[in-house]
Amino acid sequence: MIRSYIRGTGSYLPPRVVSNEDLARLLPTTDEWIRTRTGIEERRFADEGTSCSDLAYEASKAALSDSGIEPSDLDLIIFATLSPDHHFPGSGCYLQAKLSQLGVRTIGCLDVRNQCTGFLYSLSIADAYIRAGIYRNILVVGSEVHSSALDYSEKGREVTVLFGDGAGAVILSRHEGDRRGIISTELHADGHYAKALYMDIWDISRKPYISEESINQGDVWPRMDGKSVFKHAVTGLIGLCHDTLSRCEYEIGDLKYLVPHQANLRINQAVAERLGIPANKVLNNIQKYANTTAASIPLLLDEAHKSGMLDEGDLLLLLAFGSGFTWASTLLRW
Ligand code: ACO
Repeated sequence: MIRSYIRGTGSYLPPRVVSNEDLARLLPTTDEWIRTRTGIEERRFADEGTSCSDLAYEASKAALSDSGIEPSDLDLIIFATLSPDHHFPGSGCYLQAKLSQLGVRTIGCLDVRNQCTGFLYSLSIADAYIRAGIYRNILVVGSEVHSSALDYSEKGREVTVLFGDGAGAVILSRHEGDRRGIISTELHADGHYAKALYMDIWDISRKPYISEESINQGDVWPRMDGKSVFKHAVTGLIGLCHDTLSRCEYEIGDLKYLVPHQANLRINQAVAERLGIPANKVLNNIQKYANTTAASIPLLLDEAHKSGMLDEGDLLLLLAFGSGFTWASTLLRW
């Protein structure tokens, strides 16, 4: 049996720490409001001049080094982000150019634009290539620079306090046998909710597609129906957890850790509580980094791996829900 397994992990966080109190100096909010609604205490913001592919480069370099493979043995780059360097070409191409100094060849680069589920959608693609025998080593990276595209006025505060910058990466490699690796991936979307969390500025049906009027009316900032996202996230993730485990003939008690996307600590607590998963079996770091969208799950994996929490063969369930709406799961043995 051929499976794909996570052979190495890496992450990178910009050094600038922005606490809730720091944000409260920029816009009308309080530490208490943010902490009680979301669990977030601080986040990282990249400095002017730092791109999404710059953060991804640092995380990818660390993942390559942790995996022990030569950069020249990499076969494909899959780059998940909602905050790409430019609208086109994909950030994967910018990353490939940066990684070429380490010896990465002119391999294929694929950008995945699936917001908070981007990393899990990307893993599913990488897994399929490896199991099909097409590639042996694939870099899957999630990276975000949200801080440049948030509305620091009162109108945008509900969204702005939720997000942070960062990158996480894994090297997915071929494994012969079934003791390790990805067991199952499940992907879902319901586009009826596309506008529950979206950005309107790029509208190709308009001529011109970006106008001064649309900039002035704030279309350049993300818009969110927070209560709808919250409600659908909780019910969607609970259903997905049950479906994935029962299809693969596992039970909740078999899990070493639940590794959920970091959108809101209360979402993750509600999901874990209703599934009967004790808090010490749920990985969370939203307190330190806020929501880093496509980067949140690989960041969690890197932290858990580097702090020695994961043993070979541990059963992990990765879960994500976000804009689209999209939701996804990956069940794997570490
Ligand atoms: N600081 C202070 N007050 C605020 C802030 C703020 N940052 N933001 C909003 N408020 C105010 C509102 O104006 C409103 O005031 P009003 O009652 O006078 O009208 C009030 O606070 C709303 O408060 P609550 O109803 O208690 O807010 P709620 O419990 O719904 O929490 C939150 C809001 C945190 C946004 C929640 O809905 C949520 O987390 N939703 C999910 C969001 C999410 O996960 N998004 C990311 C998805 S991932 C992706 O794909 C990118």
